[in-house]
Amino acid sequence: MLYHDILVVGGGLTGLRAAVGLCDHYNVGLVSKVYPVRSHSIAAQGGINAALTNNPESKDDSWEKHTFDTIKGSDYLGDQNAIEIMCKEAIKIVYEMEHWGCPFSRFPDGTIAQRPFGGAGYPRTCYSADLTGHSLLNTLYERAVAKGVKIYPEWFVAALCVEDGQCHGIIAQDTHTGAYVPVSAKCTFFGTGGYGRVYQHSTNALINTGSGIGMAYKAGVPLKDMEFVQFHPTSLIGTNILMTEGCRGEGGYLINNKGERFMKNYVPHFMELAPRDIVSRSIQTEINEGRGFEHPLGKYIQLDLRHLGKEKILDRLPGIRHICIDFIGIDPILEPIPIMPSQHYSMGGIDVNERAASEAKGFYAGGECSCVSVHGANRLGGNSLLETIVFGKLAAKAILEDLEKQDLKPNEKALLALKDSVMKKIHRLTQPGGERPYTITTELGEVMNDKVGIFRTKSELAEALEKVIELKDRYKNVSVSSAVLHMNYELQSAIELEFMLDCAHAITLGALLREESRGAHYRLDFAKRDDESWLKHTIARIGPDGDPVISYKDVVITRYQPMERKY
Ligand code: FUM
Repeated sequence: MLYHDILVVGGGLTGLRAAVGLCDHYNVGLVSKVYPVRSHSIAAQGGINAALTNNPESKDDSWEKHTFDTIKGSDYLGDQNAIEIMCKEAIKIVYEMEHWGCPFSRFPDGTIAQRPFGGAGYPRTCYSADLTGHSLLNTLYERAVAKGVKIYPEWFVAALCVEDGQCHGIIAQDTHTGAYVPVSAKCTFFGTGGYGRVYQHSTNALINTGSGIGMAYKAGVPLKDMEFVQFHPTSLIGTNILMTEGCRGEGGYLINNKGERFMKNYVPHFMELAPRDIVSRSIQTEINEGRGFEHPLGKYIQLDLRHLGKEKILDRLPGIRHICIDFIGIDPILEPIPIMPSQHYSMGGIDVNERAASEAKGFYAGGECSCVSVHGANRLGGNSLLETIVFGKLAAKAILEDLEKQDLKPNEKALLALKDSVMKKIHRLTQPGGERPYTITTELGEVMNDKVGIFRTKSELAEALEKVIELKDRYKNVSVSSAVLHMNYELQSAIELEFMLDCAHAITLGALLREESRGAHYRLDFAKRDDESWLKHTIARIGPDGDPVISYKDVVITRYQPMERKY
């Protein structure tokens, strides 16, 4: 057994920021499935929102306007108290990251550069060219190392221990030795990222399986608003690598096969910089109605940057250019980029409050694995990097306050019993003769893509639900090809597949029940938002048979009464 006062799971921005805020006061351990600088935060490109007013066009911006844009963007499902906190903190944390050495791009006067992003009234997205996540993550990692945070890199977490309403720690595996180890902690914080890989087409890294979300659910912690799945408008066809919103922020056009900037037919004032849910639906409509282009890798729309010129592309979007050259043989200086929408972000996640605290004593979560909710039904671009650092910081503050008030005693017996059940599961998964996990993973991705996508209907959601239940049943008979414990990624994937199936179940059931359209949840059979019946959060809690039991919870409204969301 390993012992820490506080355990942080996840080596991305959220986890690192929490660990940095805690390590001066307590014995903190940080467990990460990959080396921290390989966490998915590294892939964030376009920027982080804060009302700094550095751009001459944003001199009238304020944290209040950022708050309003975020609430409107969320289609009024976001909790307004939490959004206010996030937008106010934004300014402080961007300067904090600057002072810690983050190499932001600059305006000629030396201030942090800001570019326009979708759904925002002013250019308020601070950036480091198109490598903002990379710059922030390396800055925070260096800080964590300098402060002596004890990091367990390439340690895989298999289960979360919650008993009698209190969290006691985790069961983790050192993937190098294969040993499974109970880790006891008074407080555990999850910054484990999203579930993108539940979908066939996703901008997310392969590590984004939603395992933290599934683990919390299995341990009895409720999930919130899982049906709200963000589809990024522009991913490269074939690989679905992110083509940052910064491409459009810098002035890129979306073009159909008639050579038209078709966004003028959907949102003439905002054009390519409407919020993501709207731009994704517009692109998908163009493709569905035959105005897309054909390619062996799929149907697509063009993202045209050529008019920006070589100098601007090399200065602001160098990473995009390299990705296009390396992955599809296209130089965006010379040719348009073939793009399609694909899954990008989980608005839903572990139900926590604005202090990142869950209902289980000693268990906290932040960033994409959590749902505070600061994004409601649709997240604005640039608010995700913001959420990671703000709620990593605030979680650390909340944990320090809570530990001051109560000395939590982890239950070692509960941890040992959980380790036994993990080992039994591994024994079952390593018996020969069962179905290989990848067949289930592939079918899961396909059904989520085809039937729980940008446009949804009752009949398709019902079919998807039936399929997910069938896959859960088949999962009981899964086995992997090698019983070796160390560096066995097939076994790791098989363990994670159970969590992916739980995420998919909660997403699909929530989407089927929510008979309205709001933000990214668009029902063709219920095309209007219905505040009277559905201005509420969906809560999914594990039932006695392992399936989600759904209930609902009020949205926090402070100053902004719901209005029609028009752009
Ligand atoms: O488009 C992007 O650069 C992604 C940003 C985000 O998801 O916030």
